[in-house]
Amino acid sequence: MAYKNYCLVCGGTGCNANTGEEIYHELIKKAKELGVENDVQIVKTGCFGFCEKGPIVKILPEEAFYVHVKPSDAEELIKEHIIKGRIVERLHYSEDGQDVQERGKIDDMRFYQKQYRIVLRNCGFINPEDIEEYIGREGYQGLAKALTEMTPDQIIEELKISGLRGRGGAGFPTWMKWNFTKQAQSDVKYIVCNADEGDPGAYMDRSTIEGDPHSVIEAMTIGAKAIGASQGFVYIRAEYPLAIHRLEVAMKQAHEYGLLGKDILGTGFDFEIEIRLGAGAFVCGEETALIASIEGERGIPKPRPPFPAVKGLWGKPTLINNVETYANIPMIILKGGNWFASVGTEKSKGTKVFALTGKIKNSGLVEVPMGTTLREIIYDVGGGIKNGKKFKAVQTGGPSGGVLTADKLDTPIDFDNLVSAGSMMGSGGMIVMNEDDCIVDIVRFYLDFSVDESCGKCSPCRIGGRKLLNILDKIVDGKGEMSDIDKIKEISTAMRRSSLCALGQTTPNPVLSIINLFWEELLAHIKDKKCPAGKCKKLLSFSIVRDTCIGCGVCAKKCPANAIIPENCEPLPGKKKPPYFIDINKCVKCGECLTACKFKSVVKL
Ligand SMILES: Cc1cc2nc3c(=O)[nH]c(=O)nc-3n(C[C@H](O)[C@H](O)[C@H](O)COP(=O)(O)O)c2cc1C
Ligand code: FES
Repeated sequence: MAYKNYCLVCGGTGCNANTGEEIYHELIKKAKELGVENDVQIVKTGCFGFCEKGPIVKILPEEAFYVHVKPSDAEELIKEHIIKGRIVERLHYSEDGQDVQERGKIDDMRFYQKQYRIVLRNCGFINPEDIEEYIGREGYQGLAKALTEMTPDQIIEELKISGLRGRGGAGFPTWMKWNFTKQAQSDVKYIVCNADEGDPGAYMDRSTIEGDPHSVIEAMTIGAKAIGASQGFVYIRAEYPLAIHRLEVAMKQAHEYGLLGKDILGTGFDFEIEIRLGAGAFVCGEETALIASIEGERGIPKPRPPFPAVKGLWGKPTLINNVETYANIPMIILKGGNWFASVGTEKSKGTKVFALTGKIKNSGLVEVPMGTTLREIIYDVGGGIKNGKKFKAVQTGGPSGGVLTADKLDTPIDFDNLVSAGSMMGSGGMIVMNEDDCIVDIVRFYLDFSVDESCGKCSPCRIGGRKLLNILDKIVDGKGEMSDIDKIKEISTAMRRSSLCALGQTTPNPVLSIINLFWEELLAHIKDKKCPAGKCKKLLSFSIVRDTCIGCGVCAKKCPANAIIPENCEPLPGKKKPPYFIDINKCVKCGECLTACKFKSVVKL
């Protein structure tokens, strides 16, 4: 049936958590009640990327982009847009103060203009629970080509031409891994999709599976043909129930359509995929720990070599790639390696998906060509810093990464440039900080995460990480000493050299990057016992300016510790009540008084 309108409702975890599901049902209900259910097809999709504006509803063919939609808006959207063909202005996205006539199509929006979608090509466009919608957008054509027209060597050659490098963090050339596994001699081989995604703030892999699960199934099947595997596993954390559900639905449909299981597309090729749930341990994303976890053992890393390509699951050659890496592959096979290699930089081809978060206006999921500068991502796509604040730094590469300052904003991002700049790509977390963020405190947070997630098997990581954290705790508590810097360097060197896996080897990265880049701020904490950003509680104190305090007592009412009381004196000249003061022995430094005082009489010292 041809519909007049298509109404796409974001069904990503972010929008769903914010009544997205209700909006979808309400739109269907209202369309029925108003008798237009045959005019509009209402579809639940994956994440549109612009999560800051969620819940989002897109209506085609007008390309109307409705933001912050509520279930109670459903009736108006159906009545106005579907029945009368009029844009609902109050819900329509506009760029800073734009008039409705000036509002362009989705592709004209600044958030999308510099993006280029290969991995997220279907997210927000199709119903991920309907295989026909995937097939309608060239889905499974890459698989058909690989199974009917290509030899394993030709598939691998196409990947080599594409220049695709693994998106799980290390950026290892994908074709090489496939080739090693293909060349390994064994009657049984396995292929694994790493969907563990444990970096704080990262949700690229989850959204890709939620929005386009078939792309991963298709890629794994192509990989299975290339290396000679008949069994695959998707290792996904149990905290991703929607992604797991959509993957299960997609696998069932792929079986029904003869695209998975026995005799795929009548070519005699058999391939099965099973899902394995992880329990949310960051270290289980490391490939040898992941293998142990799938085997039912405790998820702890093993020394490499032997690499999984030679000796992986149950001792058999195993190919492990990340979700985003796989999601690129169907298009590479279908359109050719040269097409893919035409996007990106010399040594990093294609695009990269980032989870852009922090003090940025347009936080969300963005996919940009490799080579886009940090400035373009932060200011053009991300819309700049929230509330007119100043940019301070951007953290990339998750807990293993580093912090980059304003002088690095023109760095064209790719695997090598980010390392040269002092950080790394990692899996794609990008956290933007402003002038109010304390860099020492943020690094302490990352360190705390790594220490918590260390599996404890090797002592450099188990003990070294804890010692680094103790030092950082001391510094943010105002008890740091200059000799701590040498200790940090010494421990970091030992951890980098002798930890068993990359978790321990990279734990010191964020700490070392502040020694290099934020020396003055670190020094202020250690020597002056001050936190320039005013974040480290133990280094802060609050005071009330006597002369401007009018004695209204609002701050005292907000104080949870009853630390603010009126002075025992007559009102000052020109005032009706005596001023208040803060008892520093009772103050818990929550800052409530600072926010409460309209007269700016409370100050941070
Ligand atoms: C502590 C640690 C955690 C990791 N977590 C993940 C993860 O969540 N997802 C992922 O794809 N790779 C993760 N990796 C990298 C994997 O070990 C592996 O390199 C990657 O899955 C390979 O896929 P790729 O070649 O497609 O990048 C992690 C590595 C380490 C050391
Ligand atoms: S979850 Fe809806 S736009 Fe991202």
